[in-house]
Amino acid sequence: MKNKIIVTGGCGYIGSHTVVELIENNYEVVILDDLSNSTEDTLERILKITGTKPTFVNIDLKDKTATKAVFKKHNDAEAVINFAAHKAVGESVQKPLMYYKNNLYSLLNTLSSQLENGIKGFIFSSSATVYGTPETLPITEENETQRPFSPYGNTKKIAEEIIDDVIKSDSKLQSISLRYFNPIGAHESGLIGELPSGVPNNLMPYITQTAVGLREKLMVYGNDYPTKDGTPIRDYIHVVDLAKAHVLAVKRIIDKKQEQPFEIFNLGTGNGFSVLDIINTFEEVTNSKLNYEITERRAGDVPKLFASTKLAKEKLGWTANKNLHEMISSSWKWEQKLRNNN
Ligand code: UFG
Repeated sequence: MKNKIIVTGGCGYIGSHTVVELIENNYEVVILDDLSNSTEDTLERILKITGTKPTFVNIDLKDKTATKAVFKKHNDAEAVINFAAHKAVGESVQKPLMYYKNNLYSLLNTLSSQLENGIKGFIFSSSATVYGTPETLPITEENETQRPFSPYGNTKKIAEEIIDDVIKSDSKLQSISLRYFNPIGAHESGLIGELPSGVPNNLMPYITQTAVGLREKLMVYGNDYPTKDGTPIRDYIHVVDLAKAHVLAVKRIIDKKQEQPFEIFNLGTGNGFSVLDIINTFEEVTNSKLNYEITERRAGDVPKLFASTKLAKEKLGWTANKNLHEMISSSWKWEQKLRNNN
């Protein structure tokens, strides 16, 4: 019999890639999603890639009664992977209450409903934003967390603290929090990828949307940072590599391999690339020029972030395999297919 995994936010960007990897590793998947930042069409795309259409429940996890009912129905699940959350940094600064309400109510309802139904495994989708402005690089899981700049980031930090408290209360919860650096790229089929609503906040979708003519010009936010070319450095990670780490985390929990009931792993490549590195590689991959302009710094941007990948390698047996070229060319393939409607 297949192990059943509940994936909240499974129609979204990282969620859909993880669902594909779970299905390909012989798990049964139940997606809970309110489609607030995704479409049901993703299910057909997952079917095209894997030959299996996952079970789908359209549900708002802020709704306690509905959440309890769905967990009762699927109480034979082995674990939950929690992707369901709003994630736009800028919007969260404008609408903090919406972010705290959505990201935290849904977390609380998920945790209490799964525990009521004896589902002990919980994988949490976290972010490198919990490290704030790190004092030392590469960032290890031992680095102190700091209050993130944005309410969005703060929901990630608070969520980890909630999980920690729930575990200390002897609830039997078994959790792994995965702190993502900068996920980009798309599935090699070009059938699933990132679909930002409105104007993208993040660099990669802004670049691809500029290149297809949806945006006029990319604004590069500052070139006076203390880095090799003055633009900020990030650790970009292919979404498919990221998805594979979730499958390993699920397996670690099911196989009872955890050394502590709450474990935290950074997910990055360990390599830092500047904004100009990304633009230059994009131009190489597409053999075209990107329209961009250097402008003012964006509030809250940290000069340099990249991960230590040691712990994830040692404990999860995970390392990122895909290079920057593959990340950027897959993002580009996805954007082009999307605009050609296939
Ligand atoms: N950038 C631009 N122009 C743009 C967009 C981004 O120059 O139009 C630059 C940013 O200034 C930054 C780099 O590109 O230097 C990367 O920016 P992203 O917005 O793509 O990514 P961030 O590192 O700011 O954000 C990521 C995640 C967030 C998370 C944050 C902090 O997307 O979820 O890291 O860890 F909160």
